[in-house]
Amino acid sequence: MATEQQNQPYNEEAVHKMLQACTDGNLQLISSYLEESRQYTNPPLAAALQDQATGISPLMAAADAGHLNICQKLLEEGAPWNAVCRKGLCAGDYAMNKQHWDIVNLLVDAGTKAELLLGAAIRLQMQNGGMDPNLAPSTESRPVGHEPCTKPDYLNQNVRYNAANTALLDEDDDAVMMEWERPLMDAHASIITGNSQKGKVVLNVGFGMGIIDTALQKLEPKMHFIIEAHPDVYKKMLNDGWDKRPNVRICFGRWQDELPKLMNEGVMFDGMFYDTYGEHFTDLEDFHSYVAKMLSKPNGIYSFFNGLAPDNLFFHGVACQCVKLQLQQMGLDSEFATCQIEVKDSEWDGVRRKYWHGRDVYYLPIVTWNNGHIVREHFGAGIQIQVNNDKRRKSDATDDDNKKTKI
Ligand SMILES: C[S@@+](CC[C@H](N)C(=O)[O-])C[C@H]1O[C@@H](n2cnc3c(N)ncnc32)[C@H](O)[C@@H]1O
Repeated sequence: MATEQQNQPYNEEAVHKMLQACTDGNLQLISSYLEESRQYTNPPLAAALQDQATGISPLMAAADAGHLNICQKLLEEGAPWNAVCRKGLCAGDYAMNKQHWDIVNLLVDAGTKAELLLGAAIRLQMQNGGMDPNLAPSTESRPVGHEPCTKPDYLNQNVRYNAANTALLDEDDDAVMMEWERPLMDAHASIITGNSQKGKVVLNVGFGMGIIDTALQKLEPKMHFIIEAHPDVYKKMLNDGWDKRPNVRICFGRWQDELPKLMNEGVMFDGMFYDTYGEHFTDLEDFHSYVAKMLSKPNGIYSFFNGLAPDNLFFHGVACQCVKLQLQQMGLDSEFATCQIEVKDSEWDGVRRKYWHGRDVYYLPIVTWNNGHIVREHFGAGIQIQVNNDKRRKSDATDDDNKKTKI
């Protein structure tokens, strides 16, 4: 039988006392506040309440002050690892800023476990015909730049390339793909071909502006598969003559439908790249089950556009860790190469919402079969890739064809 619980009132003074105790590292006092709060709710709300003005939570205060034992206690008592303050920072950010690495590790662990559980719960509900992940409830309204970027209706929308051909936009003026990503795409192309080796069998999922496909073409692949689902993008591919390029095979359709067909044909890839739009994290996870089946052994290399949780560096780290664990279970190792990137504000002119929030490091995933020596052999340990935005060329995806039709 459920126990009836009284609601604990928000009490500013009590919250401030709790925050102060967390800053001071006073475990005894914190324990007594938690016990007091437990008479209203279990787990005790005192572990989770945030200061109304600043949004600071007990976990943030303890993380900022570097008290590992308090952070552990608060997490055990149900403090949310992912609450953010008014500045958009979570406890992990506070710990990172002060370089309390033991606390960072604790919070990454807590976040990863929570996310894996949440992911499993979402999957279960989906299997039972329940919640659509794209429609997961939002607890508060957020600014447009921080809306989730899944778009279940994307494939039914019209898309268009802007006049300067520097962006592919959907009906909401959200960017599907942008020119500033070119240096990253060049780096991804180089990675999945084992440091720009020619003659590989490669797969790119999601044509967009054809940037990575252009880079791959320069490496004269033995076979170059491109899966693209959007009719407008497909039309542009045909207009630009991609279907006539040597060794290119376009599979028009969703990868969810096209990949099983290629698998039935027995196709295996030396290099695979995934960069779709409007899809959910669970789609990426589903894609990984194909990576495990279609990435050639032992030297195949897989990568994906790493826009996971782009708003917050700590959340991004947790999301990368979740992917890494998932791939590990499939026998794949993941490393994240650091790429310096600068995205000028002017890049976003005419775009409704940013999907990259001023971070100057991009973590490029390099996924290989469980023999780490392959990555090290090609790239050396402690991988750093220089990408240079200023040297990029404007949309050489379509160099051959200034004649291209704007959709
Ligand atoms: C971000 S763009 C890819 C950009 C590309 N990497 C480049 O270098 O230009 C995403 C592309 O994925 C396509 N897409 C979205 N969902 C897809 C799906 N389920 N299967 C195949 N393509 C999909 C979109 O139509 C879009 O062209």
